[in-house]
Amino acid sequence: MNLKTIKLNNGIEIPRLGLGVWKIRDGEAVRNSVMSALQAGYRHIDTAMIYRNETGVGEGLRQSGIPREEVFMTTKLWVRDQGYDRTLAALTASLERLGMDYVDLYLVHWPFADEEKISEKRSSTWRGMEELYRQGLARAIGVSNYTEAHLEEMKNHATVMPAVNQVEMHPFLYQKELAAYCVKNNIQIEAYSPLAHGAKLEDRLVAQIAEKYSKSTAQILIRWSLEHGFIVLPKSTHKERIEENFQVFDFAISSRDMQTLDGLHENFRTCWDPT
Ligand code: A2P
Repeated sequence: MNLKTIKLNNGIEIPRLGLGVWKIRDGEAVRNSVMSALQAGYRHIDTAMIYRNETGVGEGLRQSGIPREEVFMTTKLWVRDQGYDRTLAALTASLERLGMDYVDLYLVHWPFADEEKISEKRSSTWRGMEELYRQGLARAIGVSNYTEAHLEEMKNHATVMPAVNQVEMHPFLYQKELAAYCVKNNIQIEAYSPLAHGAKLEDRLVAQIAEKYSKSTAQILIRWSLEHGFIVLPKSTHKERIEENFQVFDFAISSRDMQTLDGLHENFRTCWDPT
């Protein structure tokens, strides 16, 4: 298994470790996080319209001096922008804020819509996503927070199936069935909040395993995602933590310790539950 990059179902390559920027303020804060990440070796940044920091993300990338085409950029379509026409307009607006002429990956942020006829809304939104893909404004399209039922529904209308499903995933919320479903259907799982939003970094068992490998608990949780074949998107505003979170390619977790970590599942969700 290549731990650094993976090919999506349309053949494009994506770095498996990216910086998540949820809750990082626009302007200097997000610029610094993006620059620190790029300096540390990250080549994948994951933002969203609703994080309200796309402008700073784009600035950080340009200030880093790293060519745009060397960095994998993801942003997401917010609920209010669902529906065919709005979807097209929303990516145009995101691209303007980012100061870019394409994104590598565009995701539908949530399966719900804020109007009636939710299922119809989902399908017209997806038609918009497919159009953006055809126009080359997004090199790949996908979804976020989709359950198996939402993905099954897509089979009735999609002409392009999603390349990824980005969901909350860590040992304390090990969505095993969803992961297996996605593997079977050639949809790549991206793990957000892989550190359980920082809430489980003191866990006793994770700390024991971390000590054994001379790694931090954060590094163990990130490596756990990589071992499972997920793309992983830890967030931090601290340069030294951003660097630390990237130092996960020089060790491997044994299958026994992976089993122990898998056993920590307790349906612990730090984000909204899409079911
Ligand atoms: P901060 O941004 O202040 O560094 P998740 O990616 O699961 O959402 O977790 C993000 C949370 O974990 C943030 O509160 C972040 O804090 C914290 N965090 C990220 N990396 C580390 C690390 N290496 N050590 C400790 N805390 C971390």
